Amino acid sequence: NRKKKRPVRVYMDGCFDMMHYGHCNALRQARGVGDQLIVGVVSDAEITANKGPPVTPLHERMLMVSAVKWVDEVIPDAPYAITEEFMRKLFDEYNIDYIIHGDDPCIMPDGTDAYALAKKAGRYKQIKRTEGVSSTDIVGRMLLCVRERTTSESPSHASLQRQFSSGHSKKYDDGGPRSGTRVSHFLPTSRRIVQFSNEKAAEPNSRIVYIDGAFDLFHAGHVEILRLARGLGDFLLVGIHTDQTVSANRGAHRPIMNLHERSLSVLACRYVDEVIIGAPWEVSKDMITTFNISLVVHGTVAEDDDFEKDYKNELTTPAR
Ligand code: CTP
Repeated sequence: NRKKKRPVRVYMDGCFDMMHYGHCNALRQARGVGDQLIVGVVSDAEITANKGPPVTPLHERMLMVSAVKWVDEVIPDAPYAITEEFMRKLFDEYNIDYIIHGDDPCIMPDGTDAYALAKKAGRYKQIKRTEGVSSTDIVGRMLLCVRERTTSESPSHASLQRQFSSGHSKKYDDGGPRSGTRVSHFLPTSRRIVQFSNEKAAEPNSRIVYIDGAFDLFHAGHVEILRLARGLGDFLLVGIHTDQTVSANRGAHRPIMNLHERSLSVLACRYVDEVIIGAPWEVSKDMITTFNISLVVHGTVAEDDDFEKDYKNELTTPAR
């Protein structure tokens, strides 16, 4: 007659600006520390005050965090540093057992440690930060790509530049945009892909939906289209186009994120069951048979050239 144990609830906070697979990997590890993961998404004002204005606003950052399959609950407008008052709230209202952060030092502009109080209370745990990716690095790659294409300064180029020079994670600036961070520092391992994968394969009679695309710089429009696609069946298989295919269709400057990076971002999404890492441009009869695909859908994601996302979340079923 064992008493049912209360689930261990863990809290992780962050800005989650321009969400990438490093953030997803942090959330995955945090979830592994307990049974339920509650994520605090820092307010726009707090980010602006501590490290310069975010690229993506709170509602979009909330949406991206909520779409990650290891996240159970999301708290909006979290403070940048854990204050005494907020820590009480976490313990008393949200029943949080542990507060978690990556192993990079998190120092406030005034020199204090953002997690000092949680550490003192003995409720702090650490996870390993993911090497080779950061918002700073991604902005660097985007700037380089804009520079490759144009000499005249476009407005969004200027806003990216501003974002980049606003002190955003300077500590992880490994070479900076001047040296050209087009080359990814990410080394894909089979273990990482397994960690991000779902264990369950499709049931013999399930309705398998297939959608393909570049899924470069994974954003809210992608999440929405995947949610809609998943709703049309019981299993969502996502084909991620190779870097060569993306370049051939979108220009030599794309993709910004390489095939493996794009695959991890898609795999972390709760609506996705499986991915094909390097899908062909054409969906062949062979593929439909091999993967037992019931429905091929196509999302109309219109992105303009300057990374401003303007997406129509329409779902069409092309006769391919
Ligand atoms: N994180 C991580 N690996 C990365 C980037 C972030 O493990 N490559 C973790 C951070 O340690 C933190 C959480 O993700 O626990 C949220 O990060 P965020 O507040 O967005 O901070 P940054 O460290 O500034 O991430 P980035 O530089 O990529 O913006």
